[in-house]
Amino acid sequence: ATIFRKNYTPPSWLVPEIRLDFDLGTELTKCVATLKVERNPAGDGDQTLHLCGDNLAVMSLKVDGADAEGWSMSGSNLLLPLTGTSHEVTIETHLHPATNSQLMGLYASSGMLCTQCEAEGFRRITFFPDRPDVLSKYTVRMEGDKETFPVLLSNGNLVETGEGEAGRHWALWDDPWPKPSYLFALVAGQLVANRDTFTTMNGRKVELAVWVREGDLERTDHAMRSLINSMKWDEETFGREYDLDQFNIVAVSDFNMGAMENKGLNIFNTRYVLADPETATDGDYDGVEGVVGHEYFHNWSGNRITCRDWFQLSLKEGFTVLRDQMFSADMGSEPVKRIEDVRVLRAAQFPEDSGPLAHPIRPDSYQEISNFYTATVYNKGAEVIRMMHTMAGPEAFRKGTDLYFERHDGEAATCEDFVKAMEDGAGLDLAQFRLWYEQAGTPKVTMRAEFDQSEGAVTLHFTQKVPATPGQPSKKAMPIPIKVALFDRDTKAHDGEKLLIVDKDKAEFTFKGFTRPPVISANRGFTAPIQLDAEQGDDDLVFLAANDDDAFARYEALQQLVTRELLGAIENGPDEKRRTAIADAMGAVLDDTQIDDLMRGELMMMPAVTFLLELAAPADPVALHDARERLKGYIGSRLRDRLIALHERASAIGYSLSAEARGARKVKTQALVLLSAADAKEAAARAEAQYRAADNMTDRQGALMVLAGIDCPARAELLEDFRKRFEGNALVTDKWFALQAGSLDPMVLDTVEALSNHADFTIKNPNRVRSLYMTMAVNQPAFHEESGRGYRMIADLVLKLDPLNAQTAARFIPALGRWRKIEPKRAAMMRAELERIAKAEGLSKDTREQVTKSLDG
Ligand code: ARG
Ligand code: ZN
Repeated sequence: ATIFRKNYTPPSWLVPEIRLDFDLGTELTKCVATLKVERNPAGDGDQTLHLCGDNLAVMSLKVDGADAEGWSMSGSNLLLPLTGTSHEVTIETHLHPATNSQLMGLYASSGMLCTQCEAEGFRRITFFPDRPDVLSKYTVRMEGDKETFPVLLSNGNLVETGEGEAGRHWALWDDPWPKPSYLFALVAGQLVANRDTFTTMNGRKVELAVWVREGDLERTDHAMRSLINSMKWDEETFGREYDLDQFNIVAVSDFNMGAMENKGLNIFNTRYVLADPETATDGDYDGVEGVVGHEYFHNWSGNRITCRDWFQLSLKEGFTVLRDQMFSADMGSEPVKRIEDVRVLRAAQFPEDSGPLAHPIRPDSYQEISNFYTATVYNKGAEVIRMMHTMAGPEAFRKGTDLYFERHDGEAATCEDFVKAMEDGAGLDLAQFRLWYEQAGTPKVTMRAEFDQSEGAVTLHFTQKVPATPGQPSKKAMPIPIKVALFDRDTKAHDGEKLLIVDKDKAEFTFKGFTRPPVISANRGFTAPIQLDAEQGDDDLVFLAANDDDAFARYEALQQLVTRELLGAIENGPDEKRRTAIADAMGAVLDDTQIDDLMRGELMMMPAVTFLLELAAPADPVALHDARERLKGYIGSRLRDRLIALHERASAIGYSLSAEARGARKVKTQALVLLSAADAKEAAARAEAQYRAADNMTDRQGALMVLAGIDCPARAELLEDFRKRFEGNALVTDKWFALQAGSLDPMVLDTVEALSNHADFTIKNPNRVRSLYMTMAVNQPAFHEESGRGYRMIADLVLKLDPLNAQTAARFIPALGRWRKIEPKRAAMMRAELERIAKAEGLSKDTREQVTKSLDG
């Protein structure tokens, strides 16, 4: 059934308080929930209490202490007619954590018990009005065997503990902050803590703990440091202070997503907690910092102010992603972070926005909300708020967020509330800007510069078009903020950035005082999430790649040049002049002493094939991939000596987490990547040496990544060395699977098939499934292998995984759903696999929605 945003109605009953009593067991957990329910004066007066349930049976049901009468089940939900305006409802349910393979609700993960309730998992624990606009104060009592569950955690503050009979013990937790059910959490198990404290700006002393399994303790320092940095940063940047005496983070190895912001008890995928130099790459370190920040920042943007309904998901997610991006930028390099964020947006969100699953950042309808935890809601959502930041400037933006936090604290709010607070607080007029919340699709913008010699004037002519998307055939023009700078060709200077707002189908802006046509640098810093065709000649792009003072714009010019060359190459073969220009520009990047190695590493990367497909579609993805490899090979042979020199220079820098050392590691591997396309033998020898000398995972993984694509004796030997060296470490074993599934080896699909039967492969662990199959699905030449075998393997996986873990299974559908972007032969095979999935019986709601939309959308 489809749920529509326009049909929202307030709840008829509220639950101001709830008490949960758990009798914990891995096979059987008993839950007694006592709800204080009150009729909502703002509700529709319905006397029946509607309680959601999922996979639950009623073991006992009482109203005001007496057996309930007249209740019934409607599907999996419980309907309880009530007579008065306030009652106490007591429900007992029995849960089976050990067999909960969906990882929603209460489940077991390597011996411990934990929960995941967002979005609709609480209804797998007890019957409840499981919607985010019902806010309750929670008291939780948990009791269980002391040896099996020595640590008992829930939200809020620990108020009491005690001993029970027969080796049992219990804990009582109280969360003073009313919250929706999706923020409830509980953890019980054998855990150890890395502890620290943080004193807030108003002097509250907070006990911090990062809980992990015993052997993992020494890998928790970076997470703890990131947490403390987040708490400080949110005070300084947004004026947000923490509001409980305790803050707990728990790492679990079986988790559908990255992490979860449960009030005072964040639960994390181990991948975003555990890090040390031996086992985590620099990218993994950044992931930990970003996700720890993200979940912590939700305490205000998500928990203190939550969402009225799930259509408002981007209210908390888009805003919180922006906050974590700003945090990471402040902790590291701002321009490098911006480039990384734009790369993710283009590789993941742009394809979503132009495909069958396209939806606005605030969707109008859904069948299964889990399918809407997307790059659009998260990353484009962040871009939309970033545009407000750009238009308002940092000070006014802060006034807007201050007003938002003050006005809506304690409420379940809407995206509209946020926009209104930005208007009132930041002084923006966002009447037309609201279209960014309503319309899906990446706007296509063109820019043409016209020079009038007699007037000394340059006019920029813009057009915009928001493409049709499923359910939205015609679109309105949106306000698009585009930062530009006009460079003088000789002095290589400009007279300041200007922020232009293109808010009509066509717009033009004239600038005077030029004696010759300037070079235009447009959408600097990627001020708007658009596809911009700036209609510039190669010479202008070469100029910008060499001279732009905005690091992002410089990167962008080089990317544009490469993109143009690759799209041209698959049609007409390479353009010699342009290839030379690209290699020269790349050479200048290698020599440039003004930029650091972190930036240099970014500038050395080629655009993703998924992004190129956006511009070429429908196309042959393998041809695009091959063209990309050939260009890498061309650059690699032209710059061979300089790449080798760079590799040598960077290899001399010892391990540390400084920007300099991290930059060195980044360019080291990027040098090998370019070199390997030109001279596989030389690259293999260097990669092997890098691996053997490595004292850290970044160098080791980088070297193996290069080696995995080269047919040489060291490949098998070092892959096996890697496996043995880290045997028993799940996160590194994930890397071992991913290195092989992501390899450029032409036999990669045979390898993936063999690995699916490896003793360390299990379909029950989402990280392991993703490391093998998601890595293959984004490995373009593998997934799009001509025979259609890659498609078949993904479809087989979906069918096998769907009954066990619907959420994770459904995440594989978009790869097949991209068939419209692919040349007809392969597209037909992709469709056929979708149809095969669609025909399966008992498909989950999650997978059903994605498959149906992918076929007709
Ligand atoms: N709110 C979490 C985050 O942004 C994501 C949790 C979503 N979980 C899920 N099973 N759909 O970090
Ligand atoms: Zn989030």
